[in-house]
Amino acid sequence: ARTAAVIPAAGRGVRLGPGVPKALRALGGTPMLIHAIRAMAASRAVSLVVVVAPPDGAAEVRTLLDAHALPERTDFLVVPGGGSRQESVRLGLEALPPGYDIVLVHDAARPLVPVDTVDAVIEAVRDGAVAVVPVLPLADTVKQVESAGAPGGPERVVATPDRSLLRAVQTPQGFDRATLVRAHETVTDDVTDDASMVEQLGPTVVTVPGHEEAFKVTRPLDLVLAEAVLARRRL
Ligand code: CTP
Ligand code: MG
Repeated sequence: ARTAAVIPAAGRGVRLGPGVPKALRALGGTPMLIHAIRAMAASRAVSLVVVVAPPDGAAEVRTLLDAHALPERTDFLVVPGGGSRQESVRLGLEALPPGYDIVLVHDAARPLVPVDTVDAVIEAVRDGAVAVVPVLPLADTVKQVESAGAPGGPERVVATPDRSLLRAVQTPQGFDRATLVRAHETVTDDVTDDASMVEQLGPTVVTVPGHEEAFKVTRPLDLVLAEAVLARRRL
């Protein structure tokens, strides 16, 4: 089965602060999105990458792709995204040509995921899982609060879930294409990852080990870490 990767890159990056859309911010002099695309194309199994660009930035992203060296054996499509990550992923899925039965969904904001993690996700889908998520154990203890208060304000703690049963979830997440498409057609709740839509639908989602370097660039400190990881790789 052929494998395609959909990269939602349409977000503004509000938590990172003002500036160009997050995916277009530079990391080691190269846009974060180009790193993320290379991370997917680094897997020999991935033969198509669908980039979901900022809604008014598809032409700019196309230009960016043409300006950077990318593997010859990989095909690239660029489509405009939507107002939510979920909508952006759906628009990417709608642009997928026939013949790709395995689909990865990977955040442009996780530019440094190692190829071994990408391959482990694909391998698990090939082995029969319909939905696969790379995960890490949590470093922090997690508290559940009664309800979300004002930002920075006090909240009442109601529970401390058993941390040994909790996982932080990364991307790429891997799917049987038909299952993921059905999930996007069926689930209308707001979600923050694709696997949770499959969970709501019913099929079993399984984990593979994630990687520390697959962290999401969300806040300014994450950029500092990403630059340091890149610098270490270039040693
Ligand atoms: N994303 C997208 N379309 C949106 C919103 C998000 O394609 N309408 C993408 C982002 O570009 C990112 C990934 O989803 O690659 C993960 O989202 P997140 O880290 O939340 O990025 P942003 O939404 O851009 O950041 P913020 O929430 O801080 O604004
Ligand atoms: Mg967001």
